[in-house]
Amino acid sequence: MTSELATIVDLIRYAASRFNAAGLTFGHSHDNAIDEATHLVLSSVHLPPDLPPAYGAARLTADEKARILRLIERRVETREPVAYLVGEAWFAGMPFKSDKRALVPRSPIAELIEDGFSPWLDGREVERALDLCTGSGCIGIAMAAHNPHWQVDIADISKDALALARENIAWHQLDDRVHATRSDLFDGLRGKRYDLIVSNPPYVTDAEYAALPGEYAHEPKLGLAAGTDGLDIALRILCEAPEHLNEDGLLIVEVGESERALNALLPDVPFVWIEFKVGPMGVFALERGDLMKHADAIRAAAEAR
Ligand SMILES: C[S@@+](CC[C@H](N)C(=O)[O-])C[C@H]1O[C@@H](n2cnc3c(N)ncnc32)[C@H](O)[C@@H]1O
Repeated sequence: MTSELATIVDLIRYAASRFNAAGLTFGHSHDNAIDEATHLVLSSVHLPPDLPPAYGAARLTADEKARILRLIERRVETREPVAYLVGEAWFAGMPFKSDKRALVPRSPIAELIEDGFSPWLDGREVERALDLCTGSGCIGIAMAAHNPHWQVDIADISKDALALARENIAWHQLDDRVHATRSDLFDGLRGKRYDLIVSNPPYVTDAEYAALPGEYAHEPKLGLAAGTDGLDIALRILCEAPEHLNEDGLLIVEVGESERALNALLPDVPFVWIEFKVGPMGVFALERGDLMKHADAIRAAAEAR
């Protein structure tokens, strides 16, 4: 009986049990029911994710409890990701507004941002950076927040995603250093050059997309699906990036499971597959010099499609 539930910890435990019993999929910022339940309960009562454990014993008001119980049932019945239900996701230690206009922030690139892109940027001066395919703006905004002297452009083809990204820029008061542009990849960024380009583009294959759990159907397909091998967008980025990188500029792109297809398609390109705390996550780093050296092979692979 839910009347027996009283404290924050009670509600987190109850939500996690409901989620597990319902066989939900966890892939939107969390990989387990307890973390997702914690997100739902704490965000619902406007508390931060790093709440000291002592507050777990705090009792909830009847209204708070009723709101949380309604959201738990919605999560189970509709499969909608928690970030959309509570309107908030955390990324690189920062809160972001999150709703159906853009994917829920969850890229492992957060770890690179928090680590100052070390060792990838060690010894390199960055003045201007680009977050291409920005969605909610999470990568570009977090890069700017973590690096107070950087100017950051963010770009996306989706009008809806960009509207959300602009709300996030304003929320973090970064309007003077983060500039949003609606653009089909680099088309709207002609003449602009960067020291660092970071992208988490769509990279799910058509077959994988068709088999995704219900949670993903709540997200824009434009942010996920990228053709038969998942490389439609990544290959275009590889072709066009040299035009937009300064001479010793660096490109960092997430391609997830499509890493294998990319290695098979371009076996001679020296992609550096980054190791994260949890292991490899399908994110590569590539110098502009290497992009130039292999430009013919990259272009041939893109044109052969
Ligand atoms: C995987 S989501 C990533 C969003 C965000 N960077 C993140 O990490 O949460 C990919 C984004 O790419 C955008 N996108 C898809 N095709 C694009 C294109 N041709 N040009 C620019 N953006 C594109 C989608 O609208 C979506 O917001």
